[in-house]
Amino acid sequence: MFNQLAQRYFGELDATMRQIVASVPETPGLGVMLRYPFGWVDQNNQPYHQITGKRIRPLLLLLCTEAAGGDWRTALSAASAVEILHNFSLIHDDIQDNSPIRHGRPTVWEIWGHANAINAGDALFGLAYCALEELSNVGVTPEVTLEAWRIFNQTVQELTRGQHLDMRFETLEVVSVDDYLSMIRGKSAALVAASAQIGALIGTGSSQTAQLYADFGLNLGLAFQIRDDILGIWGNPDVTGKSVATDIISRKKSLPVLYGLAQSDTLLTLYRRDEFNEEDVDEAVSLLNALSAHTYAENIEARYYERAIQALQHADSPGQAAAGQLMQFVETLFQRSY
Ligand code: IPE
Ligand code: IPE
Ligand code: MG
Ligand code: MG
Repeated sequence: MFNQLAQRYFGELDATMRQIVASVPETPGLGVMLRYPFGWVDQNNQPYHQITGKRIRPLLLLLCTEAAGGDWRTALSAASAVEILHNFSLIHDDIQDNSPIRHGRPTVWEIWGHANAINAGDALFGLAYCALEELSNVGVTPEVTLEAWRIFNQTVQELTRGQHLDMRFETLEVVSVDDYLSMIRGKSAALVAASAQIGALIGTGSSQTAQLYADFGLNLGLAFQIRDDILGIWGNPDVTGKSVATDIISRKKSLPVLYGLAQSDTLLTLYRRDEFNEEDVDEAVSLLNALSAHTYAENIEARYYERAIQALQHADSPGQAAAGQLMQFVETLFQRSY
């Protein structure tokens, strides 16, 4: 499924993103930090022929444009904007989470240090807005362009709210499922929702239809993050490209963990330790296994996938072929291992 979509959209999407990133005046040392996260170069600025990242948000945006009855090429700069914003958030997130590995490679801060990584993230943040501005040059009406900006701005607010809660929860022993859902709605579902909403808005020009796509994207984004939590504990690092211990070491209140902490005093005591070594991580995972925390999280993931599918079925989708592909795309993401 991803290969099929890759053939259709990836070439033009990546060409658009490369052009936007290249619009920054070449400054020795900075360009490589901006190209590296997308998998266009290695850390020595040499061509790297493996696209990093699944490009889920821009694919979703383009599919929603088509499903809502529009031409996906009109939406390429908006699709670039959400992927560039996503990469900004990953660079900063890896600092915030102290994560040394992403896409099976050292993270930006691990190579160039925290100060440079913050700056590179900021550069991409600005470029995301430049990408969005391009909408007005491809025939999208000023009203739709402005509405897309508004959605984008709100998403950035949501993202930082969610990231704040995610970090704050590291120091709390008890986090309710509702608080957790509010946190992931901000840190990751908001951008998935915005991708679907902006895509549909460009496709139809109707804010009402776009809102139905936002509902779909929000539920998909919640399910997507719950799966990311599961993979953060039980995923295969060779497949996810990320370390499995980082979430536990930094006491992240991911869904399986907050469930485990509510069920097991032994886990709670373990989580009270100042330092965590590898054996402690193994013990935490064993305790979570004994509690079937994996299944608990999967059931909640499934609930949000179902809601996403229902919301999609209610959304107006004259572009029937794309709507079918969109449904397949959603199904591919369910219980993904990557
Ligand atoms: C990672 O997102 C961060 C989350 C919101 C879970 P992705 O899993 O989409 O990351 P890439 O783009 O494929 O690297
Ligand atoms: C995802 O955060 C949200 C953002 C990147 C803003 P996570 O910290 O849960 O995602 P991974 O697991 O590092 O990709
Ligand atoms: Mg994080
Ligand atoms: Mg992280």
